Amino acid sequence: MNFLYQLVYTSQRNPACTDTEIQNILESCKRNNPSKDITGVLLHSDDHFIQYLEGDKDIIKLYDLIKEDSRHRNAVLLSYGPLKERAFPSWHMGYKNLPKDQVDFLTESNEADRKLFNSIIKGEKQSGTSATNLLVKFFNRA
Ligand SMILES: Cc1cc2nc3c(=O)[nH]c(=O)nc-3n(C[C@H](O)[C@H](O)[C@H](O)COP(=O)(O)O)c2cc1C
Repeated sequence: MNFLYQLVYTSQRNPACTDTEIQNILESCKRNNPSKDITGVLLHSDDHFIQYLEGDKDIIKLYDLIKEDSRHRNAVLLSYGPLKERAFPSWHMGYKNLPKDQVDFLTESNEADRKLFNSIIKGEKQSGTSATNLLVKFFNRA
């Protein structure tokens, strides 16, 4: 039996990574993730990414490949560990742009979420569970 793992990292989007490049990244996800049974979400703002991956323990190998991608830099692994059940079972890579107003919305609504979000985006270590919960919240707010 393959155990489930989750992985969260944050990185800085390179200025050369245009919105078209984001579409190319999502095409790669569509092409490669289903056969590896990898699901998750990719949040991007003008200058950052936060990606959450779920799959077997080899998602760390995908992370090793992704972190060398020239469309971003300074990838910081926030969490990698066992997972009981998938948070995004049907999404081979959900994605969302993070416009400033949405972050502001979070700011107004919940001080604790805002603090957590800011520390995630700065690449500070967070527990996997709290980072995952915040991502789930983001996606359920759509
Ligand atoms: C922020 C970010 C997230 C990425 N996420 C994935 C992913 O989940 N799966 C994937 O196959 N490639 C992902 N990539 C792209 C890989 O770095 C790599 O370009 C791609 O896997 C190469 O496969 P391809 O030749 O089929 O496009 C990501 C790249 C970036 C910059």
